[in-house]
Amino acid sequence: MFGDLVIVDDVPGEFTERVIEAFLARPDDTFALSLSGGDTARRCYERLADEAGTQIDWWKVDVYWGDERCVPADHPDSNYRLGREALLDRIGVANAHYPMRCEEGADPYQLRVGELGKFDLVHLGLGADGHTASLFTGSEAMNADPGRLVVFNEDPSGRNRWPRMTLTFAGIARARLVIVTVMGEDKRDALAAVARGEDVPGARIRGTRVVWLADEAAAGDLSET
Ligand code: 6PG
Repeated sequence: MFGDLVIVDDVPGEFTERVIEAFLARPDDTFALSLSGGDTARRCYERLADEAGTQIDWWKVDVYWGDERCVPADHPDSNYRLGREALLDRIGVANAHYPMRCEEGADPYQLRVGELGKFDLVHLGLGADGHTASLFTGSEAMNADPGRLVVFNEDPSGRNRWPRMTLTFAGIARARLVIVTVMGEDKRDALAAVARGEDVPGARIRGTRVVWLADEAAAGDLSET
């Protein structure tokens, strides 16, 4: 797999430590953090909000989203709502946050990410089907124009609801650090497929540095390599 596989008992705890480490090592004054959706992400953000304390100056953090469901911002399936509830409302402040707004189209976010240049940290999850962000097997975004950083996309299998907006692999690759958090036995096959180099979306994740944080349940036999 591209990147380092780190197997830990406490994925949210390790995630928190590595976000703090990346923040303290940031090369610029502000820290550009891109959030994921999903239950694993929610657990990671709740822990980050509770434990980062004063180690992260949230006034220096610009919050982005790696993908979004095209639903209202207060919809239970909204990744913006997830980030608000699990992180932003708990820490109270951030320098800026940039929700993906489907109604505006993908170009404004494309321009924002283009102007940003580099994310300091992009957080991703891995679906049991091997998807990441809203990049699904067989979906149009798997072959996005190389110049696109942000696109609309949908899951052709229908397993993952809603039209989506998502960073492309080129958009993800703008990350100085990508952390992929993977928890639970239901992810074991997907993580093994990534490790074998099969062409599942997760296997295409690139960045200056990529770290896979997995628990034993998701790692399965990989923990013996
Ligand atoms: C999304 C997420 C998605 C998520 C994985 C893992 O918007 O659906 O960005 O890519 O990270 O599906 O989700 P779980 O942690 O809930 O398994």
